Amino acid sequence: MDQTCDPVTIVIFGASGDLTWRKLIPGLYNNFKKGRLNECAHIIGYARRPYNDESWREELKSGVVENSPDTFVDADWARFAKLLTYFQGNLDVPEDYERLASYLSKLEGGDANRLYYLATAPEHYPLVARYLGRAKMAKSANEKDWRRIIIEKPFGEDLKSAQALNRTLHSVFDESQIYRIDHYLGKETAQNILFFRFANTIIEPVWNRRYVNNVQITVAESVDIANRGPYYDKAGVVRDMFQNHLLSLLSLVAMEPPSTFRPEAVRNEKIKVLESIRPINLNDTVRGQYEGYRKADRVSPNSKTATFAAIKLYVDNWRWEGVPFYLRSGKTLARKDSEIIVEFKKPPHMLFYLPPDMPVTPNIFSLHIQPDEGIHFKFEVKKPDSEQEVRSVLMDFHYRSSFDQPLPDAYERLLLEALAGDASLYTRSDAIEQAWRLIDPISQGWESTNQPPLMIYPVGSWGPAASDELLARDGNVWRQGFEEEANVHVGD
Ligand code: BG6
Repeated sequence: MDQTCDPVTIVIFGASGDLTWRKLIPGLYNNFKKGRLNECAHIIGYARRPYNDESWREELKSGVVENSPDTFVDADWARFAKLLTYFQGNLDVPEDYERLASYLSKLEGGDANRLYYLATAPEHYPLVARYLGRAKMAKSANEKDWRRIIIEKPFGEDLKSAQALNRTLHSVFDESQIYRIDHYLGKETAQNILFFRFANTIIEPVWNRRYVNNVQITVAESVDIANRGPYYDKAGVVRDMFQNHLLSLLSLVAMEPPSTFRPEAVRNEKIKVLESIRPINLNDTVRGQYEGYRKADRVSPNSKTATFAAIKLYVDNWRWEGVPFYLRSGKTLARKDSEIIVEFKKPPHMLFYLPPDMPVTPNIFSLHIQPDEGIHFKFEVKKPDSEQEVRSVLMDFHYRSSFDQPLPDAYERLLLEALAGDASLYTRSDAIEQAWRLIDPISQGWESTNQPPLMIYPVGSWGPAASDELLARDGNVWRQGFEEEANVHVGD
């Protein structure tokens, strides 16, 4: 064995599933290509299906070819594939974990760090954690080697189940060993929010209630629920997207500067934001379902599950008092578009004569999460050769034109961070539970009061009209794709 190697073993539970094929193995392959995962690593797939090493590798190869076509190279794959071995076992048979433990010890032949990845169906998480504990795999025999576990979402389906899952995990692992994934935090543009805010001088002074009129977070998807009926019909959009991704983005936009960039300091600030959110009023929520949803595979024909939601909330703290935060997400919307808009107040006094049909529009920062990742600033200028005509223009930053390199997939980054023991991009137990405390009253309130009414919206739209009305009540509008409104582009 190469003596410079720091041996690590990655065990994927749910190795025959879609996540492993589509995200985990491509992410590990790309880390390997970049020299961030070395040749003495072991990647073990654990599942029930009767693969052997060769057939599992073949299957995974097609996943990398399909999901990471720009980086796939046969020779690199051949080197990487040597790290992969398959172990057939059942999730609910404790003896299989004992067998796995001896298999790993033999494979490692000595000291090694270990990362367990739970890519199984969520109902198996408690079982796998308990059996890992029982097989003495949760703690290493010596101080030096670490054991970590990554848990996929959904982390519970409400506060109670999330707390129960946390209790089970904590009975086997310390909190410092547990990495709860929210893949939105691994997106390059989400990570950039803190850099944009805190690596620049001119942003922070205006990032507060004195200058900001409202904040909008949109995570729009054009896809439908595909074949995920059984999961989705139970979960709906607030559990599927708001409890995790949208609240995570909100934490990054709203948090105070941490004392350092160390994981605990960053996570301490995030939880403060969640704890400052005022309980959400049902009147400030909108729920929609796309036309035809009830005919989807394994969805109840009378389903009341929301596939779209818009929510207004307030962060009751010094910085954000009185500033509405509008969040929305939905399936089958007009296009895939995730964007954070920070809309500033209008100038206190208008010096220029403006015709009534041409009011001055507010300055806007758009943090464009995906696609066409970038940041844009919209501001007002005088139209050339006019006396007093004001026009909106844009200053644009696009990753694709400013950086000559593809953006890594979120899973590539998140796997790397877990291997490095940096949990900044992972969710702590208190944040998960606090997010459920905010979300439960919405999903439970909708079910028990049937209010607000569920609105059916056309496929390809921006959701029900009530979503626009939610903002109109405050004199605001959704700013999606505001680039199109601007007349002139600056800096292209
Ligand atoms: C997942 C949700 O967490 O995120 C899916 O379960 C959703 O319903 C997906 O489609 C969106 O992720 P992305 O990275 O495609 O925006």
